Amino acid sequence: MKKNFPVTQKDLINSVSEEMSEPEFLSLIEENMIPIQQFFTYYRCAIMEIETKFRVLNEQFSLNGESNPIEFIQSRVKSYDSIARKLFNKNIQPTLEDMEKNINDIAGIRIVCSFIQDIYRLADCFLNQDDIFLIEKKDYISSPKKNGYRSLHLIVAVPIFLENEKRMVKAEVQLRTIAMDFWASLEHKLRYKKDLPAEKLSLLAGSLKECADESARWDERMQSIKNVLES
Ligand code: GTP
Ligand code: MG
Repeated sequence: MKKNFPVTQKDLINSVSEEMSEPEFLSLIEENMIPIQQFFTYYRCAIMEIETKFRVLNEQFSLNGESNPIEFIQSRVKSYDSIARKLFNKNIQPTLEDMEKNINDIAGIRIVCSFIQDIYRLADCFLNQDDIFLIEKKDYISSPKKNGYRSLHLIVAVPIFLENEKRMVKAEVQLRTIAMDFWASLEHKLRYKKDLPAEKLSLLAGSLKECADESARWDERMQSIKNVLES
């Protein structure tokens, strides 16, 4: 007997849409989505915990009669797509277990400070808290990347308290000054424009590095001015 296969693209879309609206299919999706949603919730909770810790420190510093060390905080949970792409590059299947094990920056918190010394002071206070576990520290301020990138990176684990369990969740905290953030944001935007001749790209890289060095000098000068005013 001849089977009636959809022939046009429209037929195919209609047929798939019908299948996808079946209650069995919808409940299958729902069931499979629950662990994924739960997984991302853990990281959103970790962000809340860490943000609060920095907001508390910011308040406390201002109680001491100092100006607030934090200019602003930005946070994000990495999208499923970009986690999967990162794992794909490492030849790892994107299971939830492997995502948790291999990706340290699913939760990302960026703390933008006024002065360089504020970064180290805040980082020390944060890391001294007894529920924060340091996994890795990269100081790209004392040792900037070759392209000029500067920031202090901390990979930490923080506990989140759920109804019946306590879970340790990893997060990446980046601490930087306004000048470091300004440079990194623009460099990130320019990085996608790679369809230029190699010679031009190397010229631009040199130019970006000069901007990074200049912005580092600004940070140092601002810090010196602050030190003189406070002494
Ligand atoms: P990733 O796989 O990207 O996490 O690399 P990694 O584990 O070596 O981490 P690293 O600490 O070097 O960088 C992590 C994050 O820092 C990136 O996702 C960016 O947000 C930021 N970053 C690092 N290097 C640069 C840089 O050269 N330019 C800019 N704009 N951001 C950078
Ligand atoms: Mg990273």
